[in-house]
Amino acid sequence: GRVAVLMGGRSAEREISLISGNAVLAGLQRKGIDAYGIDVSFDICQKIASGEFDRAFIVLHGRGGEDGEIQGFLQAVNLPYTGSAITASVLSMNKRLSKLAWIQQGLPTAIFMPVTEQTDTQPLVDELGLPLIIKPVNEGSSIGMSKVNDITELQQAIDLALKYDADVIAEQWIHGEEYTVAILDGEALPAIRLKTPHEFYDFDAKYHANDTEYLCPCGLDADVEQGMQDIAVKAFNALGMKGWGRIDFMRDSQGNLFLLEANSVPGMTDHSLVPMAAKQAGLSFEDLVWRILETSFK
Ligand code: DAL
Ligand code: MG
Repeated sequence: GRVAVLMGGRSAEREISLISGNAVLAGLQRKGIDAYGIDVSFDICQKIASGEFDRAFIVLHGRGGEDGEIQGFLQAVNLPYTGSAITASVLSMNKRLSKLAWIQQGLPTAIFMPVTEQTDTQPLVDELGLPLIIKPVNEGSSIGMSKVNDITELQQAIDLALKYDADVIAEQWIHGEEYTVAILDGEALPAIRLKTPHEFYDFDAKYHANDTEYLCPCGLDADVEQGMQDIAVKAFNALGMKGWGRIDFMRDSQGNLFLLEANSVPGMTDHSLVPMAAKQAGLSFEDLVWRILETSFK
């Protein structure tokens, strides 16, 4: 049947989604699938309700696409779709709720505090120490995030995050290495280590910089990597995620792991991480998009 590839949308990650979405569309077409790209806007309802599609491949990042909204709509019109359903999408888009779910299941994540316009800066520093990191709760691609090295920078970092989201967290800074584990159909793919000269793997390091290094194989001993993959699968399941996704980690110098966040519709651009891990596992981009599409049948 015909597959609608949903991309674009109206989130802050719109441009990334268009790149991811066009890559997925081309990959599906190379597989001989009758796929059709849709830049999601408010007339999406009419296009989908026209009845010409048999399923939807969601390649929307961020708000409106990764947070349960489109999933609820597709469920209401009875169109099968790729990836997580409503509740898991809500939980994985929301960094605060993800962390609460993980803590409840005994999974490791850095300590954090909620932040509002009324929050005093001193108690945050007393509780979390410095540096710390400020994050809008419902954003992706590190948009609106700042590392705070000194208390004098804290208010500005909070104000920036509040521009993106009324829901903001302050999180303890974990000194260490950054890793990510892609999940495909419930199983972990090889881990990737991200190395950047930036303070962290921020928007520029993700999409623009040419000095970001991607290590896959990641360089960890096999048993250590396996431990990370096991926690990734547990973190994925703890949020009720389905189909595919990506779980991001920090690893400190003692080897302790900290879950950063979950992505229910990870990037699929030509230097994105899930395609890189899939390649290491012997799966081409076309095989990957086919496998993701297949999960919508389950
Ligand atoms: N939020 C971006 C697209 C990612 O996780 O890859
Ligand atoms: Mg994310």
